[in-house]
Amino acid sequence: MNFKPQLPNWGYNLAENKLDLLIEYHKWLKDTGIKTGLISPKSDQFIWDEFIVHSLYFSLIFQDLDVQNKQIYDLGTGGGIPGVPLAITSKNIINLVDIKESRINELIRLKNILKLENIEPTLQDANNTIVNEGYFVSRCYISSQNALNLLKKRKNTTYIVSATEKELDYDKNVFHVKHLNFYINKEDLRHIDVITVK
Ligand SMILES: C[S@@+](CC[C@H](N)C(=O)[O-])C[C@H]1O[C@@H](n2cnc3c(N)ncnc32)[C@H](O)[C@@H]1O
Repeated sequence: MNFKPQLPNWGYNLAENKLDLLIEYHKWLKDTGIKTGLISPKSDQFIWDEFIVHSLYFSLIFQDLDVQNKQIYDLGTGGGIPGVPLAITSKNIINLVDIKESRINELIRLKNILKLENIEPTLQDANNTIVNEGYFVSRCYISSQNALNLLKKRKNTTYIVSATEKELDYDKNVFHVKHLNFYINKEDLRHIDVITVK
């Protein structure tokens, strides 16, 4: 096994001095995460690139938007992705929302293991969470199109969603969508939509 916990150039300043904690979270994902079914069995490198590095890009977006000390809701968080890396690399409070009680219980244990004060594992249906305005993120939970449908009329709301290569067709009077492309390693390109309700 030739696992390298590398950081891409775009993530270096963001995460360089949080590397130890990110590696501890990686270890938890590959042991407890796989054992308890939070993630399916994957290689160490895959877990690092697809779950941790991918999540760091959400954090970079909030840093660019100068969002600090805010409540952010990670809908359909599963094993805490992207919410946990986001919490490790920012001062925001990340509400890890999932509908499955067993997942929330594991995340409560993780909060103690990592001594992460700024995560709040929350047992809730995401459809009830998003009735509020604010900041939302999700990875592999909802399509950008469905996010648009949920967000209609929620002014002052930003939803950052993992996306496909395809750019969204949307009503420019209601939304602004920024489609971002980035590499999680030397080869693999990923996409995120930053949706703002006007
Ligand atoms: C495909 S997993 C994605 C997990 C994680 N975000 C990731 O990227 O690995 C989807 C997660 O959404 C949760 N989920 C499904 N429906 C939900 C709902 N209505 N409200 C909250 N969570 C939900 C599931 O329990 C599961 O943990």
